[in-house]
Amino acid sequence: MSGLQQKVDQVIAILTGAVCDFSPVTFANSLGAEDMVLTDIIDRNQLAIEMFSLDTGRLPQETYDLMQAVRERYQTPLHIYFPDAKRIEAYVAEHGINGFYQSIELRKACCHIRKVEPLQRALQGKRAWITGIRREQAASRANLEISAYDTDHNIQKFNPLLEWSNADVWEYLKQHNVPYNKLHDKFYPSIGCAPCTRAITPGEDLRSGRWWWENPETKECGLHVKKTP
Ligand code: ADX
Ligand code: SF4
Repeated sequence: MSGLQQKVDQVIAILTGAVCDFSPVTFANSLGAEDMVLTDIIDRNQLAIEMFSLDTGRLPQETYDLMQAVRERYQTPLHIYFPDAKRIEAYVAEHGINGFYQSIELRKACCHIRKVEPLQRALQGKRAWITGIRREQAASRANLEISAYDTDHNIQKFNPLLEWSNADVWEYLKQHNVPYNKLHDKFYPSIGCAPCTRAITPGEDLRSGRWWWENPETKECGLHVKKTP
């Protein structure tokens, strides 16, 4: 059995265990390369895991194209959550449509309205959620576990691709002819909202194109940061 197939079998075992012990389970699907691996594995194996995307309203066109392609290719429905319109309107009235460039506080406030609050809604009634996080992606992700209790959302959280390398991800995508975000071909390894994501140059850190004007320590959008006790 190939090294990759062993890793895939481990992921299936983790996901099956999550379904057994923590149903209902949902998968947070950003449509990034890692999440496309999980989409394919969940759908191919018809696992009882729902999936959702947070549409911030500021995603790149390429991400919307992929969202449509996922709908056409896979049976598992992708539920799309939108931010609360009233909160966005209030933020934009006060700070402007691109107010998030003005300060870290305003950037985090925008992420809160456009991602964190919709995430809270998406996780309501669930007992576990799945992410495509990999340990290698960032210093802030170095100490994570494959399965841990998420004290921010009070449900179990699984990171089944935690030990996968970037090469594993791409080997899987090519092997199964999985659709992927066309921005990955233009030096965007990590893709979020269009105004807060840019291409990187070879050798740069994988997430260096996200919120590139901030220090690495602040570069989480709030979806995965533990509240400080
Ligand atoms: S982020 O916190 O900086 O935005 P990143 O883009 O690395 O996160 O993605 C890490 C994981 O967070 C993804 O694998 C996915 O599980 C979840 N995630 C991030 N953005 C979204 C989104 N827009 N919709 C659903 N899940 C998301
Ligand atoms: Fe707003 Fe940028 Fe955060 Fe997207 S990544 S929610 S545009 S601050």
